[in-house]
Amino acid sequence: MKIIDQSLLQLLETWRNELVQANTDQQLEALRITYLGRNGRINELMAQLKTMPLEEKRAFGPQIQELQQIITQELQALQQTFITQAFNQELNKQKDFDVTAHVPSALDKPSGSLHPYTHLIERIEDIFTSMGFAYAKGPEVETEWYNFEALNIPADHPARDMQDTFWLTTPGLLLRTHTSSVQIHTMKNQQPPLAVFTPGRVFRHEATDATHDFMFMQCEGLLIDKNISLTHLCSLLKVFMRGLFEKNDLSIRLRPSYFPFVEPGLEVDISCIFCKTGCALCKKTQWIEMGGSGLVHPATLKACGIDPAVYSGCAWGIGIERLAMLLYGINDIRLFHSGKIEFLKQF
Ligand code: PHE
Repeated sequence: MKIIDQSLLQLLETWRNELVQANTDQQLEALRITYLGRNGRINELMAQLKTMPLEEKRAFGPQIQELQQIITQELQALQQTFITQAFNQELNKQKDFDVTAHVPSALDKPSGSLHPYTHLIERIEDIFTSMGFAYAKGPEVETEWYNFEALNIPADHPARDMQDTFWLTTPGLLLRTHTSSVQIHTMKNQQPPLAVFTPGRVFRHEATDATHDFMFMQCEGLLIDKNISLTHLCSLLKVFMRGLFEKNDLSIRLRPSYFPFVEPGLEVDISCIFCKTGCALCKKTQWIEMGGSGLVHPATLKACGIDPAVYSGCAWGIGIERLAMLLYGINDIRLFHSGKIEFLKQF
């Protein structure tokens, strides 16, 4: 060390005494300002230097610089020590942090869950999209034409009574009674070939009980192309139902039925998912009714501007609540939009 001046040695000692007492970054910064700041000790000495005779300047100047360097180095060393200490502390904290630790308060917090509709619609969507079908949407408030006429159900047709309708006060408007109306929107707006599925809410003006509600959900599949036949419908239904129930040995049974917009019209049954010999859910028949289906009626194709001589199609529809009731063992359809937390919490 080149410092021999007593007052400078004194200052260095004071600095070191103060430095060992600094415990925090703030204290260190205060020391830096006191010694190295604009009005600090070193600059005070520099100012004194200016007034000194040349000889003294030569002797004193380098010593001040040396002092400044020593102070700067020692300050930086301690700053570095503080950083390392803080880092190690943080590391130690993490060492003690058990990611598998059980936090009891997390259990007390209420957490949300998905509505059974959402679960099932996602499941249905997965199956349909894997088969190349696209999601199609239509309005819940419909005109008579989309809900009935285009589906081959004219005003005086007795089939209108099959679906008791909520009519709106505006003549000709109603709440859609089925998602088959979305088939019409799709066929009118898109050119075949087309393949869509149509999850959505429908409304029926009827008395409610454990298995009937005035509002429920349906989903239909519709495929229009050249040469579509019952073979396509059968295999689509098989893939769809097997996917839905995650059961590869599920069988499909089709029974003649009547829906004005399909010909032939067929009721779709699946082999009972709960038994092989007959149980309460299949009413001892070993079959469970799942919905309606058929080949799209030529009159419906025509109403949408599709030439039935060139194109044909198949369609099927299921009720989502019925599906959920089967899958989750729910015994009252009215629970779905009851808003009961106890019910919803289970999903
Ligand atoms: N829309 C019919 C209903 O609500 C179901 C159905 C859909 C039937 C598609 C045939 C084809 O009952």
